Amino acid sequence: MAGTPEADAAERPIGVFDSGIGGLTVVRQLMARLPREHILYFGDTARVPYGNKSPETVTRFSVENTRFLLRRGIKYLVVACNTASATALPVLQRRFEIPMLGVIEPGVRAALAATRNRRIGVIGTIGTIASGVYERMILALQPDCAVVEAPCPLFVPLAEEGWTEGPVAEQVARVYLEPVIGSGIDTLILGCTHYPLLKEVIRRVCGPGVELIDTAEETVRMARLQLDQLGLLRGEG
Ligand code: DGL
Repeated sequence: MAGTPEADAAERPIGVFDSGIGGLTVVRQLMARLPREHILYFGDTARVPYGNKSPETVTRFSVENTRFLLRRGIKYLVVACNTASATALPVLQRRFEIPMLGVIEPGVRAALAATRNRRIGVIGTIGTIASGVYERMILALQPDCAVVEAPCPLFVPLAEEGWTEGPVAEQVARVYLEPVIGSGIDTLILGCTHYPLLKEVIRRVCGPGVELIDTAEETVRMARLQLDQLGLLRGEG
């Protein structure tokens, strides 16, 4: 089918954006699972963090980031930022025709598949937690779940600075996570794409009884499915 419009469209890159380096946790999964795809990553390090900015500002940044990637000919967009997915995804979907995926729904589905006691913790930026989007989506799919949420704003600068191990990261993680773990959750959604960079510290603080949900894996599984359905997966060769 080389030379057909579909084949030409499939050749174009997948666009991915985040406020900084966090979305690279999604890119890593994309590269592992879809090794033939071209990927164009935009990390908005000039304006990081998004998590404590207003929904209007995050929406404006997200529209600008999407335009930037569209000008470079992307075929599909992954909003690899929970804050932008929580506040701006519906606006992006209305404003742009390009197929796109955020990171919230994949994380929720993975957590519902993992939990046994139906007590789910969610950590994210101030913006993501204030939006209430995780709790709404979890309860819409599974009304008898208990959802315990906590914003962890210092995790993003720690990840951006590369302070992902050591006593500072550990102390911050304890302060944020101990109340969440104390509520009896068995599953914790890492509701910010920067947080998997601190996974080892978070895992140590949570202990073996809590399953950590890294939304990147499930996001890439859903992206692959959509790209396939749209005939946009890049072929052999
Ligand atoms: N990594 C992003 C998220 O998933 C943004 C973090 C931030 O910039 O505050 O929410």
